[in-house]
Amino acid sequence: MKTLITGGTVVSSTGSALQDVLVDGETIAAVMAPGSQALGPITADRTIDATSRYVIPGGIDAHTHMEMPFGGTSASDTFETGTRAAAWGGTTTIVDFVVQSHGQRVQDQVAAWHDKAAGNCAVDYAFHQIIGDVNDDSLKAMDELIGEGITSFKLFMAYPGVFLSSDGQILQAMQKGAENGGLIMMHAENGSAIDVLVQQALQRGDTAPYFHGTSRPWQMEEEATHRAIMLADVTGAPLYVVHVSAKQALAQIAKARGAGQNVFGETCPQYLYLSLEDQLGARSDEWGGFEGAKWVCSTPLRARAEGHQDELWTYLRTGDVTSVSTDHCPFCMKDQKEMGIGDFSRIPNGIGSVEHRMDLLFQGVKDGRISLERWVDVCCTTPARMFGLYGRKGIITAGADADIVVYDPEGHTSIGMGPGRTHHMNMDYSAWEGWEIDGHVDLVMSRGEVVVDGGGYVGSKSHGRFVPRSLSQNLI
Ligand code: URP
Ligand code: ZN
Ligand code: ZN
Repeated sequence: MKTLITGGTVVSSTGSALQDVLVDGETIAAVMAPGSQALGPITADRTIDATSRYVIPGGIDAHTHMEMPFGGTSASDTFETGTRAAAWGGTTTIVDFVVQSHGQRVQDQVAAWHDKAAGNCAVDYAFHQIIGDVNDDSLKAMDELIGEGITSFKLFMAYPGVFLSSDGQILQAMQKGAENGGLIMMHAENGSAIDVLVQQALQRGDTAPYFHGTSRPWQMEEEATHRAIMLADVTGAPLYVVHVSAKQALAQIAKARGAGQNVFGETCPQYLYLSLEDQLGARSDEWGGFEGAKWVCSTPLRARAEGHQDELWTYLRTGDVTSVSTDHCPFCMKDQKEMGIGDFSRIPNGIGSVEHRMDLLFQGVKDGRISLERWVDVCCTTPARMFGLYGRKGIITAGADADIVVYDPEGHTSIGMGPGRTHHMNMDYSAWEGWEIDGHVDLVMSRGEVVVDGGGYVGSKSHGRFVPRSLSQNLI
């Protein structure tokens, strides 16, 4: 099956040009000047008219948690519902986290995650490994996993008693990363100190979701980020700090990068747009003082009065924010977030956004925050390079997988569950209800197969495949 995508502007991380794209089977066969005869007359089985629209690589969301057991419940999107929502929003690859907790064997967990995902994904998927219990067996597994295409390992400085590793354990895992080339991903918050602040807040009677934010102040994130950077420097491990929300933590990352260290920062749409005041402090008729639970996640949303959001956009423009993922970890209000009524520490942590990342970041282009090319870079190309997918994913070039989005910059997307709005994640609310985007995902192709077309999902859950990854292609 040959498809010609014609008339559109192909946008890459480095430039944009009117080009036609020829897809043959699952891969891109050629990217050519419109009407080019270089390959002789083109005979395609299908033609997609992309006139006046952008033709971009499918999005890569490098931070998702589908059906993750967490906070006394499980993330509400399965691989099936979550990857379908990803497809709706122009994301054609997710990198999800296999979870190893205390007492569990890494390899057993990898097998369990393969079982959950195989045959259930609308788009391609890969895995990172959470090492929640650093010991001889899990350190050995880190070597084995590199050969199995799982080349990045998340450690936690937060969540004592659940995932937190001691500094000594982190050092050991980083030594392993330095040795085998695996990328160390870090949840950088000082979890022990935060736990004390949380208990003190609850004792004062500050039990509402808002106090989730105030008991995780930016100093806790900056301190942990700095500590992680120092430990990485001692060991020589490459370090990718996930879901950064504090401008001070990013300043630490920028400093380390300026000094030539392999340190990278990820942020998420919620930290660019949402805030402690507007969301965690929200009240509605339905939920009263508990509405903020919709946006309880860690790291927390930060105070707009402190200026984090604007500075994050600046770091995104300058490159010290390397990429934007969602940290998609959805929970419903009913029966899940509700567990924390009267005690914010029992609210499962997480926000669902896998469907909306491409649109939300495109709005950054429309608002003059980032360039068109930077949009593609942070959402598609750099995540591919960062996580060893580049060449195959994240780029429109001959030989790459035909993961392609046709995006209409003059279209419109209304996000949310209300009439005429879009929301396909398995959640009973939208963290982005009422957000209006000046753009629209018109068509999504995953490995040559159209999965979203003209406002409808036409894919299947048996389409997505596991993609083994190489070591990071983004290191100096
Ligand atoms: O609140 C969050 N971020 N939930 C998902 C787990 C994690 O720490 O990434
Ligand atoms: Zn985390
Ligand atoms: Zn996460």
